[in-house]
Amino acid sequence: MQGIILAGGTGSRLFPMTLSVNKQLLPVYDKPMIYYPISTLMGAGIRDILIISGPAELPLYQRLLKDGSQWGVHFDYALQEHPDGLAQALLIAEPFTKGRPAVMILGDNLFVSPDLNRILRNLDESATGATVFAYPVTDPERYGVVEFDDSLRAISIEEKPRVPKSKYAVTGIYHYDGHAAEYARTLKPSARGELEITDLNMIYLKRGELKVHILSRGTAWLDTGTPDSLLDASDFVRIIENRQGLKIGCPEEIAFNQGWIGRDELLALAAPLSKNLYGQYLIDLAHGEL
Ligand code: DAU
Repeated sequence: MQGIILAGGTGSRLFPMTLSVNKQLLPVYDKPMIYYPISTLMGAGIRDILIISGPAELPLYQRLLKDGSQWGVHFDYALQEHPDGLAQALLIAEPFTKGRPAVMILGDNLFVSPDLNRILRNLDESATGATVFAYPVTDPERYGVVEFDDSLRAISIEEKPRVPKSKYAVTGIYHYDGHAAEYARTLKPSARGELEITDLNMIYLKRGELKVHILSRGTAWLDTGTPDSLLDASDFVRIIENRQGLKIGCPEEIAFNQGWIGRDELLALAAPLSKNLYGQYLIDLAHGEL
């Protein structure tokens, strides 16, 4: 399975923090935000990953993440000239996906979910249709909102409705079959001038080909789009990491645990960071001391 990470956008809700730095490069506690969606994909066994971002930011991601071989994965990079909407990513990704299915994740979405991991690992690559993940929130009007009938069958999705029909937000991770680009090409820009992912999901819904999984109560789904939610995400990661002595969203650890890199490679990654707690963590991991 291939992965796509959308790491562009203007981050205007975080101005002035994001006037000169792309949102997904900002820290969430002890690592850059993009480490979290990368870890979500890697944790699901996805090793072929396309990173999409804007002209000024793409070189920064390339400098940070390189070709991925240091983590036993492969990163490709593609340019989104202008943030014209999430569904545009499927068009940009077409030369990469080549009509094959892919998991797309938004660069500002942070998941801690054994649930999600299991479902992603078990996705049937040959199945037609799309899969999205719903999560109950107290502020659904900020998101795509899915409405269910009595038997929990999805019947509508609306983007940021003023009066939400349910409390279930559509989270920023999606699995699409090989038809996603073909359908995305038929979309028209919304009132806010974007190719909306919700409109693409509605195409699948109308075809009877949209699966909606409700993520279980044990799942943490955080987005980092506002100063408060960014700080909440950092606090969440700090509290859990310090309590357990285990990291959330650590690509080096996932690569090591999956057997994609060995002990020597892990120690080499840790060496330049060895003066801080992140590097020390990797050294402890390499020595089996976690
Ligand atoms: O977080 C989940 C929500 O994400 C969904 O519930 C909504 O249905 C979906 O539209 C989206 O809503 P947002 O308004 O939060 O999306 P936003 O414009 O903030 O973009 C999300 C991420 O994608 C962000 O990290 C920036 C990046 N992005 C965004 C756009 C519009 C791009 O890379 N390119 C783009 O063109």
